[in-house]
Amino acid sequence: MPHTSHKKLIVGNWKMNPATSAEAKKLARKFKRAAVTLEHTEVVICPPLPFITICSSRKKVSHFHMGAQVASTQEESGPHTGEVGAHMLRDIGVEYVIVGHSEQRKRGDTDLLVAARLKAVLGQGMTPILCVGEATRDESGAYLEALKNQIKASCGDLLKSSAKSIIVAYEPIWAIGAAEAMKAEDVYETSLFIKKVFADLYGADMGLKVTVLYGGSVTFRNAPDIIAIGKVDGLLVGRESVNVPGFVELLKAVDLVG
Ligand code: 13P
Repeated sequence: MPHTSHKKLIVGNWKMNPATSAEAKKLARKFKRAAVTLEHTEVVICPPLPFITICSSRKKVSHFHMGAQVASTQEESGPHTGEVGAHMLRDIGVEYVIVGHSEQRKRGDTDLLVAARLKAVLGQGMTPILCVGEATRDESGAYLEALKNQIKASCGDLLKSSAKSIIVAYEPIWAIGAAEAMKAEDVYETSLFIKKVFADLYGADMGLKVTVLYGGSVTFRNAPDIIAIGKVDGLLVGRESVNVPGFVELLKAVDLVG
């Protein structure tokens, strides 16, 4: 299901947290309770794979969706030890899948692999959240060229009809796990650049339509400004997404931005 509404999208990337299924269940229960009260915001939680089923519910919860942190490039079941197919994720109710997170790229995901994962996720009718972002910034702006190349290579030979369903999460690596997020003004500038890259790749309308999230040290304190001044469509949240009071506060604060 592509994210086509004008609503804000808040994605919680739990990474390798929490330690137990009991804790995961508790987190999910609290976030569901918060999600139903929202008016302008959709919430996606991405727990570790073993906890996805325990975090999802049989009944549909308003404004609440399940996501996964990874999907295999293998499109069919078979002799692929350790792999989790996109079709399996879809089968357990996953709607969104994070693809190309910098922590996975660091462990060996190349642009080629990222492009193959994107295809596998799209092939199952789920929405990939494609993570891109520069490692460092330089005065001369070479990082913009690198960002452009990363987006192009990650999208590979995707047709426009498929690219329409991608969500881009801009996560500057230097802002992940940091003390502070990127300045909201700079988020605005870079999100415009990303939209321009999409316009160049797939046509002007795509530049206007592509959903862009920001990720990197988002908290309930800085989230409203990043949305309002950074003019992004949503946020990809790490640490704050496994902190119950912080994430609930963040959802409420973002919802008020409208
Ligand atoms: P933090 O919010 O902990 O900086 O993590 C960001 C991130 O990597 C989300 O995918």
